[in-house]
Amino acid sequence: MSGPSITIPALQQKKTAGERITMLTCYDATFARLLDRAEVDALLVGDSLGMVVQGHENTLPVTLDEIIYHCRAVARGSSHAHIVADLPFMTYQTSPEQAVDNAGRLLKDGGAHAVKMEGGASIREQIRRCSEAGIPVMGHLGLTPQSVHKMGGHKVQGKNRIQAEKILTEARMVEEAGAYSLVLEGVPEALGQLITEELSIPTIGIGAGRYTDGQVLVIYDLLGMDPDFQPRFVRRYMELGDQIVDAAKAYCDDVKHGHFPNDHEVFLKTG
Ligand code: KIV
Repeated sequence: MSGPSITIPALQQKKTAGERITMLTCYDATFARLLDRAEVDALLVGDSLGMVVQGHENTLPVTLDEIIYHCRAVARGSSHAHIVADLPFMTYQTSPEQAVDNAGRLLKDGGAHAVKMEGGASIREQIRRCSEAGIPVMGHLGLTPQSVHKMGGHKVQGKNRIQAEKILTEARMVEEAGAYSLVLEGVPEALGQLITEELSIPTIGIGAGRYTDGQVLVIYDLLGMDPDFQPRFVRRYMELGDQIVDAAKAYCDDVKHGHFPNDHEVFLKTG
């Protein structure tokens, strides 16, 4: 029976050994194949797809069926990485039963190896019940995009002492409830470091500084797909958005001038 090369014990071992964990978002089979070739440890079928793939303003409209659809594609393309699927807004907050049912679908129908859910005290039982049911849970604290309206925008969290202490307390709670890992998003570096030192499970940061056990980025951001989106925490490794525009322009030019297709690009009659 085959499974991913990167397992949850392997991720835990990386923390113990002080080896950094790599995670990127991934929404389709082609990218999953490429990211496997790059030996990325974990692929996150994030509800960020609502923004970068579907064009919504935030992640709230994403449905469970949409995550399952994208997750299946990622699972078909990957054989190496640990695949985590996001539970979308309002598919787990209502009750532990709702969380177990929907998280179960992400594993059964989506082919995910684990699920991610946002929040602390309010979803403690959801984390516990899913973990007890054999569904690995990755927590998510700090800037939690599903609470965008409560936060008043996608804003850094934990900047004052009271907020920071609340996030630290909730991080301990998430671990105690049975989560195997925790995403820390949009928090000051010192808080990311403190939580990482306090927890025995691996932390994975996005905009959480240099000292978390791993890092995650939205793949479209890393590739520079949107030339106008440059938050401080993103490093662009390419300007692929501009390259795509240039390639499409060159193609249109060739078609208009009769340069595409040429005689090597057509099927010629034989015999
Ligand atoms: O949905 C997502 O892509 C995420 C990451 C930003 C961590 O949750």
